[in-house]
Amino acid sequence: MGDLKQRLADALDGARRRSLGLLDPLSDEDLLTQHSPLMSPLVWDLAHVGHYEELWLLRAVARTQPIDAAHDDIYDAFRHARNERAKLKVLGPAEARSHIAMVRGQVLDVLEKVDLDPLVPLLTEGFVYGMVAQHEHQHDETMLATLQLMGSAYPHVAPPAPPGRALPAAEVLIPAGPFVMGTDSGAFAYDNERPAHVVDLDPFFIDTAPVTNGQYLAFVEAGGYDEPRFWSDAGWAHRTEAGLVAPQFWSPEGRGSWSVLRYGKRLDLPLDEPVQHVSWYEADAYARFAGKRLPTEAEWEKAAAGASAAPGDANLDQRHFGPAPVGAYPGGASRYGVEQMLGDVWEWTASDFTAYPGFVTFPYKEYSQVFYGVEYKVLRGGSWATSPLVARATFRNWDYPIRRQIFAGFRCARDV
Ligand code: AVJ
Ligand code: FE
Repeated sequence: MGDLKQRLADALDGARRRSLGLLDPLSDEDLLTQHSPLMSPLVWDLAHVGHYEELWLLRAVARTQPIDAAHDDIYDAFRHARNERAKLKVLGPAEARSHIAMVRGQVLDVLEKVDLDPLVPLLTEGFVYGMVAQHEHQHDETMLATLQLMGSAYPHVAPPAPPGRALPAAEVLIPAGPFVMGTDSGAFAYDNERPAHVVDLDPFFIDTAPVTNGQYLAFVEAGGYDEPRFWSDAGWAHRTEAGLVAPQFWSPEGRGSWSVLRYGKRLDLPLDEPVQHVSWYEADAYARFAGKRLPTEAEWEKAAAGASAAPGDANLDQRHFGPAPVGAYPGGASRYGVEQMLGDVWEWTASDFTAYPGFVTFPYKEYSQVFYGVEYKVLRGGSWATSPLVARATFRNWDYPIRRQIFAGFRCARDV
């Protein structure tokens, strides 16, 4: 195999080892149970990544016949809501594992023979292989959110994160001027990241690091959840209806102060770590409390230029099974000196998920296009659970502004 093909095979293999490793400590029952109405049974995610791989790396690349026509219904995310998937005739844990292994075997045979023709858009630079590897990693992150919601102890080994340090300044000034947003290149860019285009921005300040639990606690203890003036109208309505009083998984009983439930263990609230499991509405309210605002995604991306996702520079890949303290990764800072932009927590931005000028759907409209509009807010930067194959300055994630089970936090910005 050539260099590129070997790298693609390695990317697929890395994603698969991660998926299987995550599910390895669990019982069959854990895999089949619906742990939250917001999430699929884990065994659905596992077979879904295999089905997606069959669709793209066998049927699209090699024109094979469907392996099992029923899978086109069961594993289509648009045909069944997450909370209905436990009722489907899904493959059991053992069947799912052997099924996706069989698909993978055929995929590697095809990869060995396929001509990665630069004139075929799906195959250029191995695009479709990069898409499938990233898809599996994104589902691994989704499965980590399910495992956190499961509430019971999830056995895992994770070395402690590097220590934090005092930041050189609380905010960084990003000077006015144009920058190139998005990308035109590479096997590992989705359609929503394209095309590259110039965006001119006014100067702004952005926080050097994400907002910490300690900072967020000040908002909670100042009665921020009872003060409508900090909240948008929709945010206040949601906060009231959902009875929000603090981030998800926080609890007021702890030694002295609050505690947080993480993978079934209760910890004293780690004050110097980025806050996570907050909705966009909570992030937006905190920003107003702090006299600031959320950055737009253009501001975020400009500030992130040059940020490093190399090991030792960013907290990715579930390496520590949680966010690292603020200041832990000076080496990963962006060219402007903004820290922890890649990894730790997804960062809510002020922006709705919309198409860039000149956007073209590729290769299917259900990845990005069907989600464009005002219903979804953009998150940037990846979390501690994100693969380095996915975490990059141009990558765009999106979710509803009420969502909290994802590993989302935020940093603030303000006008100059
Ligand atoms: C980009 C994380 C919003 O999980 O819904 C997975 C990724 N797309 N399978 C999602 C995705 C198809 C997507 N997000
Ligand atoms: Fe999917």
